[in-house]
Amino acid sequence: MEAPSKPRYEIHDQISEWLAQMRKAAAFLYGEATSAEIAALANFYQREVRPHFAYEEQRLFPALRRLDPAPELHQALAEFEREHVVLIEKLDPLIEDLRAIAKGLLSGPQLVDISRRARLVIDLLLLHAAQEDDVMLPLFERYGTDMQRELAKGDAI
Ligand SMILES: [Fe+2]
Ligand SMILES: [Fe+2]
Repeated sequence: MEAPSKPRYEIHDQISEWLAQMRKAAAFLYGEATSAEIAALANFYQREVRPHFAYEEQRLFPALRRLDPAPELHQALAEFEREHVVLIEKLDPLIEDLRAIAKGLLSGPQLVDISRRARLVIDLLLLHAAQEDDVMLPLFERYGTDMQRELAKGDAI
């Protein structure tokens, strides 16, 4: 995944769009999402969202920790990592359920529960990304090329 090169966290924009589509798909109870759309949402999760969490934990957060010793930043990053665990715990089974729906394997009351869980985790992930933006966008701006250098160090590992 590309390192952020300007004070904008583009992957968060993409994830927000994905979440908007997920919210629409949560209305699949009303037949508004096709199985192809649901499969595409599940694919985006595997291709982008999970790797994004891993990128932050393995590359971005360590680079920020090396650049900035502020205890409140380190606390915020630790909290973001804890939130990743919670989000993954909720998203992994949800995505599996979406795949099952796309295959026509689930119906009726199961859909009500899946829809409720989807809306909950969408809200959690939106809040998580917004809080990361609040903490990290000023740092991307402040550290600029130093940040790129620190991120590049990860490539050598
Ligand atoms: Fe995150
Ligand atoms: Fe993020």
